[in-house]
Amino acid sequence: MREVCTLLLLLCGSTCLLASAIPKEEILGAVRDFQHSSHDAGDFTHQASLDVLGRFNLLWKFDSETITFEAHVQTTGYIGLGLSPNGGMEGSDVIIGWVKDGQAFITDRFAEGYFEPRLDAHQDVELLSGYENGTHTVLRFRRRLRPCDTAEDREITEDTQRVIWSFNDHDPVDHGHVGQNGPHVLYHGRNRGTKSIILLQKNPPSLDIQDSNILTMELTSQNVLVPAKETTYWCNTLRLPTLDRKHHLVKIEPIIQPGHESLVHHVVVYQCKLGQVPPMLDGGHECYHPNMPEEWNLCKSIMTAWAIGGQGFTYPDHVGFSLGTDDDPDYVMMEMHYDNPKRISGERDSSGLRFYYTPNVRQYDAGVLDIGVNSATTHVIPPGAESFDTTSFCFGLDPYLQELGQPIKVFASMPHSHLAGTAVRTKLVRNGVLQSYVGRDETYDFDLQEIRLLDPEVVVKEGDLLITECTYKTTDRTQVTLGGLGSREEMCINFIQYYPRIKLSRCYTALDINQQATFFGIYYAHWEYPFPIYYPANLVNQTVIDVINQHPWTNEEAERFEQHVRNGQVYSYNIPDEANDYQLIDQPADPTVPDDNSVSIPGC
Ligand SMILES: *[C@@H]1O[C@H](CO)[C@@H](O)[C@H](O)[C@H]1NC(C)=O
Ligand SMILES: *[C@@H]1O[C@H](CO)[C@@H](O)[C@H](O)[C@H]1NC(C)=O
Repeated sequence: MREVCTLLLLLCGSTCLLASAIPKEEILGAVRDFQHSSHDAGDFTHQASLDVLGRFNLLWKFDSETITFEAHVQTTGYIGLGLSPNGGMEGSDVIIGWVKDGQAFITDRFAEGYFEPRLDAHQDVELLSGYENGTHTVLRFRRRLRPCDTAEDREITEDTQRVIWSFNDHDPVDHGHVGQNGPHVLYHGRNRGTKSIILLQKNPPSLDIQDSNILTMELTSQNVLVPAKETTYWCNTLRLPTLDRKHHLVKIEPIIQPGHESLVHHVVVYQCKLGQVPPMLDGGHECYHPNMPEEWNLCKSIMTAWAIGGQGFTYPDHVGFSLGTDDDPDYVMMEMHYDNPKRISGERDSSGLRFYYTPNVRQYDAGVLDIGVNSATTHVIPPGAESFDTTSFCFGLDPYLQELGQPIKVFASMPHSHLAGTAVRTKLVRNGVLQSYVGRDETYDFDLQEIRLLDPEVVVKEGDLLITECTYKTTDRTQVTLGGLGSREEMCINFIQYYPRIKLSRCYTALDINQQATFFGIYYAHWEYPFPIYYPANLVNQTVIDVINQHPWTNEEAERFEQHVRNGQVYSYNIPDEANDYQLIDQPADPTVPDDNSVSIPGC
């Protein structure tokens, strides 16, 4: 601790005169002795391997103010770890550390580009310990989540973080030198990479469950021949075990066939309508296909979901998903999304999910609610946009909350959009004022979708409005992007989990193609894709899609279109258990945001 304080002082400019009186290792924040300088025992709650070869392993834990990392890296040279705005080096908040002659060193730096990151004016990383064991370098260090130095250090939030890493088998050259660039580090060469991680994931993904009555069941595909096309949704119905009394599902875990880590994009399990025995087909069938058994459409209330990059989900101690009672499903439909952009043929898959369930039931039954935009071709996203927002509303809650006679508490969220998605957020609005978020990721990554625990739980009361917004970036596209199931089509959904359970499963907004078409001077078009135009007469041989694709899109045009859509009417669309009813409604205004009185950062 003392060494680091000294370092801070030294680099603050006016106090640098002290430098000559202090040994070099203190200038660099050296830690000489692992045992004595470390006050905590480790007890890390999170872990990730940053490179596929397992050479850079990161352990971490956090509290409300700080995060402590321990990097285990297969090198005896320096290691680099950074937080990047986008996965590249430019603009990244970086630390570089190493161990030399039994002493550990760390430097807090900032990368301005693809060259050696310079030293920050303020050294805000606290080195706790470090050693080398012949093959590996291990460094433990701590920093604030909300930095005081907002110019050179990045804030760590609950959003998806692009973590960058590097190492080199040499320690820095002239490692004791403190110049403007700090000790000079050699180029890391190919020992570098980036990984998306939700550092502040509240639910330690590998939590063990201490329950000796725990039972498991596996829901998997049975050797499905994955079609040689980019997007396949494969469905299969399965019978849940017959239980003599109520059980709670308490944990789900992915079972991914080795080698299929990028092929299996997501798995969604839907409950089938109570009392219904859906046709059971050997090996399953393509979902949403005209030949799919019609009864499968009665399996549409989501039970649980897993998507690529996720570790699985453990329910909080006081909640479980009910199984085995008359109100619970006997059958489920499992939907596998296979993402096969290279159109590989002949691949067979048996991936799926493992359920952990127990007769030791918990206090509350969990429910799942799917909120956002109806995934259909009426969801229009213009090309060439740096940032385009789609807004949706959940209007359907009130009757259910009235019937329940109490608020619901949301304990988990899984934001979901596709490749063009850059942010997903659900605002909880009470009396026109933004209260909090029911799940939010401002730096969403399609390849990392995890169920995120909300802590504290978010209370949703009668009269509350949920607004789900998705932001898309389409600068690399020349044609319009439409809502749909494929990865190049878009979605805007938040799967929220809450208790006590109500009978609503989807609360959607459906966009109106005719409202959107008026932006282009089209006043009447057919409601079905590709929306042939009826009026005006000079456009009758074209479709709305043609006109959108011919439009001279720019950022400004995209923004104007966004406002046009935001100011029109939309359809509200709820699925309680089966009935679909659409209602055309005016969109509520954006909520007012309470004054942010946290401009000064506490503790700085
Ligand atoms: C050195 O440290 C690494 C990382 O902690 C560990 O995996 C490895 O087993 C250690 N090697 C020895 C010889 O202790
Ligand atoms: C539309 O196409 C039909 C048949 O090709 C043609 O007769 C008609 O003139 C076209 N109308 C317009 C407005 O271009």
